[in-house]
Amino acid sequence: MSKPIIVSGVQPTGNLHLGNYLGAVKNWVDLQNSGKYQMYVFIADLHSLTGNMPADQRRRQVIETAAELLAAGIDPKKTTLFVQSQIKEHAELGWIFSCITPIAELERMTQYKDKSQQQEKNMNAGLFTYPVLQAADILLYHGNLVPVGQDQIQHVELTRDIARWFNNRYSAYSADKNKYFPETKHLLTDVPKVMSLLEPEKKMSKSLGAGHVIELADEPDAIKQKLKKAVTETSGGGNAPGVQNLMLLLQKFSTSKTYQKFVTTEKDGSIRYGDLKLATGKAIGEYFTDFRKRRAKLLSNPNQLKKILTSGAKKAESVAKKTMVEVRERVGI
Ligand code: ADP
Ligand code: TRP
Repeated sequence: MSKPIIVSGVQPTGNLHLGNYLGAVKNWVDLQNSGKYQMYVFIADLHSLTGNMPADQRRRQVIETAAELLAAGIDPKKTTLFVQSQIKEHAELGWIFSCITPIAELERMTQYKDKSQQQEKNMNAGLFTYPVLQAADILLYHGNLVPVGQDQIQHVELTRDIARWFNNRYSAYSADKNKYFPETKHLLTDVPKVMSLLEPEKKMSKSLGAGHVIELADEPDAIKQKLKKAVTETSGGGNAPGVQNLMLLLQKFSTSKTYQKFVTTEKDGSIRYGDLKLATGKAIGEYFTDFRKRRAKLLSNPNQLKKILTSGAKKAESVAKKTMVEVRERVGI
């Protein structure tokens, strides 16, 4: 029996933050190390073209994202790690899928609605068809499972719909009838949503700005400063989303003894948020010490990083090409 196939990606729009890590990247590393799956992880630079980032910054950020994924534990011997735009088949399959996807289905996507508000002056067509390209990313490799944060569930559900529409419409030439593309499922972690430090009712996201996120690469002092400004209780006491978010981070990154101490003081009302912030900051800074060292080392040798990405792209390309031969035959081109 062949192993289930896992596909996931991240946009090169900024350094990885704790939301990316707890919602997705940590899970990728754990799944990879379980040895039970065949894994594809890629840097979604085509998706990032829907935003406002200048070209030079994108070029740099692709390399930095690769360094950060490797520093976080992605192992190119176990996972096929590559850059999306190096495999032209993503865009090709995306086009074919856009011709079987009803506009009304894309209009329902909440990320599209949010993003078009965030970037009113740049409401490009790519923002709208973004989830179609995402379906192509996944189905090009016949992905069974997609480990992502909560905000991406809707896109994985659409991927499943697109697979069904394709299978129903283009089954004529296939012996496998309605099963050419698999029915992809999302995989969540136990932390599907980390909240922003400054607006804890929103998800932690690069697009909100630097003060809202803790990056994995942040030095301990920067983490401390950011946490100092984090919103805790405006109302709701210990149930306030800002407090809950800090407690969650403490739980994930500190010892269970420290965490339990704060659970107790939270319950009896003696908790001091200043102390909670200090303990959380210290734990995060320590947890990522090795990450920061590995990241710096990897970034000091960009040619080595490019080599790793080229070799990942070669492996991905051979699978992508095979899928496209079969897809072209099925659709009649
Ligand atoms: P951002 O929203 O910061 O631009 P991306 O869209 O590049 O992040 O997300 C990459 C991965 O990280 C996706 O799987 C996404 O679901 C996950 N993710 C992003 N932000 C969070 C968060 N705050 N909590 C949990 N998961 C998140
Ligand atoms: N849309 C995803 C995000 O913003 C990134 C992405 C692109 C992706 N293609 C994908 C994730 C395919 C999983 C599978 O986070």
